[in-house]
Amino acid sequence: MIKDMSDGVQGAILLVGASRGLGLAMAREFVKKGWNVVGTVQGTDRTDLHYLAEQHPDRVEILQLDITEPVDIAALRDRLAGRSFDILFNNAGTANKNQDETIADVSTEEFIHVMVTNALSPMRVIETLQQLVPPTGLIGIMSSGQGSVSDNNRGGHEVYRGTKSALNQYMRSFAARHADDPRALVLIAPGWVRTDLGGPDAPLSVEESIPKVVDVLLAQMGTPGLRYLDRNGKTVPW
Ligand SMILES: NC(=O)c1ccc[n+]([C@@H]2O[C@H](COP(=O)([O-])OP(=O)(O)OC[C@H]3O[C@@H](n4cnc5c(N)ncnc54)[C@H](OP(=O)(O)O)[C@@H]3O)[C@@H](O)[C@H]2O)c1
Repeated sequence: MIKDMSDGVQGAILLVGASRGLGLAMAREFVKKGWNVVGTVQGTDRTDLHYLAEQHPDRVEILQLDITEPVDIAALRDRLAGRSFDILFNNAGTANKNQDETIADVSTEEFIHVMVTNALSPMRVIETLQQLVPPTGLIGIMSSGQGSVSDNNRGGHEVYRGTKSALNQYMRSFAARHADDPRALVLIAPGWVRTDLGGPDAPLSVEESIPKVVDVLLAQMGTPGLRYLDRNGKTVPW
């Protein structure tokens, strides 16, 4: 297990969905900045996060969580009882296999899978684990610019888009229910990035997005209330 806040440690993040892509890059970036990272992976396979943990055994700890399994989330909460994280961040998310598919075409099964993974499950993660975050801390979720209803002038990625809009809406409800909560709440739009989900045609590399995302999160700490921000810290219209 990683050490507690000593030896120049800058903070601690519980990062959900850190096996690859943007989540793995966030884990690397926080370690680079001197933070302790508890990162979750969905399954039992070895991932690149395990490699990072081997390089930084006193900084990175790996726990298992499938965000679509409420029992898993509760078990993680019990396992982490008594510990404290400056940031709780849900990065885990997915997309339908054929992102050109419209809402007219998607199967009910796939719609449910993407909606449960991207909207319901991140909120269950936040609702169940939020007690691990002190009043000075930050609770964040990886949203997407595609979740913006006002910016949807061109359509496309209909199924995915709707799940991130729903996620944003649920996070607004969470913020409304916690109006007196001193913690910072952030929905992040990282830009369109080349990952397994973003695909090879995305304009941004992971390195062009994630260091900025992490800086935006750190800059929001200490400011209560909910913001929907892009990687440059600019407000995204709801
Ligand atoms: N790439 C982009 O252009 C872009 C743009 C805007 C927003 N985003 C958002 O950024 C986040 C990360 O995306 P990415 O591009 O890095 O995609 P990715 O490479 O496909 O990675 C997705 C991550 O989510 C995890 N995950 C998926 N379902 C999960 C579940 N049920 N339980 C736990 N973990 C689960 C995956 O774990 P496994 O390795 O176990 O599958 C993986 O770590 C997502 O929320 C995505 O919607 C991405």
